[in-house]
Parts: sequence; C-alpha cells; structure tokens
Amino acid sequence: MATVLAGTALLNDITLVRTSSTPMAIFRAAVRRIGLHIAAETTKYLPGRDVTISTPLESTTATVIDGHVVLVPVLRAGLGLLDAFLDILPDASVGYVGLKRNEETLEPQAYYQNLPPIDATTTVIILDPMLATGGSMKAALSVITPLQPKKILAASLIAAPEGVSAVESAYPGVSIVVGTVDRCLNDHGYIVPGLGDAGDRLFGTT
Ligand code: PRP
Ligand code: URA
Repeated sequence: MATVLAGTALLNDITLVRTSSTPMAIFRAAVRRIGLHIAAETTKYLPGRDVTISTPLESTTATVIDGHVVLVPVLRAGLGLLDAFLDILPDASVGYVGLKRNEETLEPQAYYQNLPPIDATTTVIILDPMLATGGSMKAALSVITPLQPKKILAASLIAAPEGVSAVESAYPGVSIVVGTVDRCLNDHGYIVPGLGDAGDRLFGTT
C-alpha cells in the first residue's frame, strides 16, 4: 500500500504543476517544494538507532539515522526531486540510473548507471516524479535489489494506480511514497489527469 500525502500546501503545488500554462521556472520550483514534503514523509521509513549524547544540560538518549542513505534519481526527471531530498538528507550519497521510456512500446531503455557503494547497511531511495506503468521504477529496482541494501524506498510525485500495483506486485518489500495517485493511464501510457511529460516540463524540451 503506497503512502499518499494530503497536506493542502502540497496539493496547492500539485495543482500548479498540473496546470499546462505554468512556466518552466515556476514548475521546477513547485516540483522542488513538493519534493520537500515527499522527502520528509519518506524519512519516516528510514531506520533509526539510539545514541547517547550530551546536551548543554545533561546526558540523554537521542535518535540518529541508522546506516548510510543513497539517493538514486532516475534520469532525467528524477533530478527535479534531488535537491529537495538533499536538503532533508544532506549526508546522503547520490547514484544515477539513466532510463528513457520507448514511447511506442512503453519499455524503459537503460543508458547510464553510476552508483556509490551499497551494502546491508544502506537505505536506498529511488526518485522519479512519475510512476506511470511502473516499468521505469521496476527497471531501477532491478538494478538496486541485487545489491541487497537494508531497505529500499520509492518516491514519486504523481502515480497511476497501475504503476503502484505493478511495483508492489514485483517488489512487495519496497515502501512507496507518492504525492498523489491519479485516475489511470491513457492509451499512450500517460498518467491522467497527470502533468504531461515531467522531463520535458522540467528541462524545456518537447
Ligand atoms: C518518464 C518519467 C519516468 C517514466 C515513467 O521518464 O520521468 O521515468 O517516464 O513512466 P513508466 O512508469 O511508464 O516507466 P522518460 O522515460 O520520459 O525520460 P525523461 O525523464 O528523460 O524525460
Ligand atoms: N512519463 C511522464 O513524464 N509523464 C507521464 O504521464 C507518464 C510517463
């Protein structure tokens, strides 16, 4: 079951990114703000551990993140969420998986991969604004899961129910956090009502 966010400030920004007349700079800034909400929610799934510290007043037990976090934005559009996640998780390392969906077959094609060390102490958070058919997220997960990290999270801005189901069926151990879940996919594999092509709107391509 995916975690879906509901705050009104987040919904206000989702409305902004859905609107086709929103200019690129405004779109990009709104995606970043939405990323902050999603990042904060995602950290609820991070493993924590207790440590003993000294405040200026006394010794106490406090919580820190257990292990190392690796953020994996799926190129290109995942880059739109990266800075927000780094604001919330400044010590995270960053790995890249480049995928481009073939718009005829809807199958993702891998073109780049560069990952930092990932082991049983690592939590990996995969970032991709759009979870449509789920093909790209599953392709990213097929790269990460063999490395056997402690935990894997998937973070998206807008998901289709079909994409959430596809990822949950194939990777039941992965926690999915999304800004919102839309109605369905259209005949071209686009999320509706959606926001169009996230990469094109972030980077000014068509
Ligand atoms: C978009 C989006 C996801 C993918 C989602 O990327 O950013 O990665 O499509 O679709 P899926 O769930 O059906 O796989 P795209 O392939 O257009 O590449 P881009 O980020 O370079 O624009
Ligand atoms: N990729 C996008 O950018 N948007 C969609 O709606 C589906 C895939």
